[in-house]
Amino acid sequence: MNITALIDKFWEKYTSYTPSAKQIHQLFGEEITNDHIAFRTLNLPETSIEIQKEYLLKYGYAEKGQYDFEVKKLKAIHLENEDPVMPKIFLSELLLEQFSTGLQKIFQEIFKNINLKDQELFTGGRSWEIDFHTYNQLANESEYASWLYVWGFCPNHFTVSVNHLNSYQSLEEVNDLVKQNGFLLNKSGGEIKGTPEELLEQSSIVADLQKVDFSGTAHNVPSCYYEFARRYEDSNGNIYQGFIAKSADKIFESTNFKNN
Ligand code: NI
Repeated sequence: MNITALIDKFWEKYTSYTPSAKQIHQLFGEEITNDHIAFRTLNLPETSIEIQKEYLLKYGYAEKGQYDFEVKKLKAIHLENEDPVMPKIFLSELLLEQFSTGLQKIFQEIFKNINLKDQELFTGGRSWEIDFHTYNQLANESEYASWLYVWGFCPNHFTVSVNHLNSYQSLEEVNDLVKQNGFLLNKSGGEIKGTPEELLEQSSIVADLQKVDFSGTAHNVPSCYYEFARRYEDSNGNIYQGFIAKSADKIFESTNFKNN
């Protein structure tokens, strides 16, 4: 499989539970370049971002930045491809040891008998049983953890590169298009996270709600969201390629229940 086929697989998986992304994608009426694709995992030896990175190296990716999210107890890295047209990849992981023993046990039990490999760490989804009590228990400690419990291994979001759009110049214009078509933006930290001075502006819709079966009982829970990013030139005239931890921190909240 080449890199384009891999990205296509990610998109196929992602839009299967994020119908809004497909709808908004079509609203632009032009070809879309992806700024980045983001994934979530946890820092067990078999599922860590280091293991995920190993797999992506084969596709021409290399690590270019590291980020810490102390309050959310997450660590992240971003990777760039040797072909600059290919999306960057943002990998984050839950730092398990910083949570309660109850939370740690839930995930240790799940992964005792599960052995994910290679692409499964990106598109394998969930292969374990879930119940709503555990979901709520996890959500009390970390919305990231409860999201991971339900959705497993899959793209968390794709991000449209506003720089590459022909018909829209600013993030404000993109946000207006999205809102006029009935989609809700994540307002945590304001509709636009980041500033031109920080060289990166981002916005995102709130995650779609999807009906999920919890051991025989269905509940609507947040799935995934679509993001938009506009990047600016640094003092050397190069378009900034990194991420702003303070903005990403707010973007993570697009999958929080309270948004919906
Ligand atoms: Ni993102």
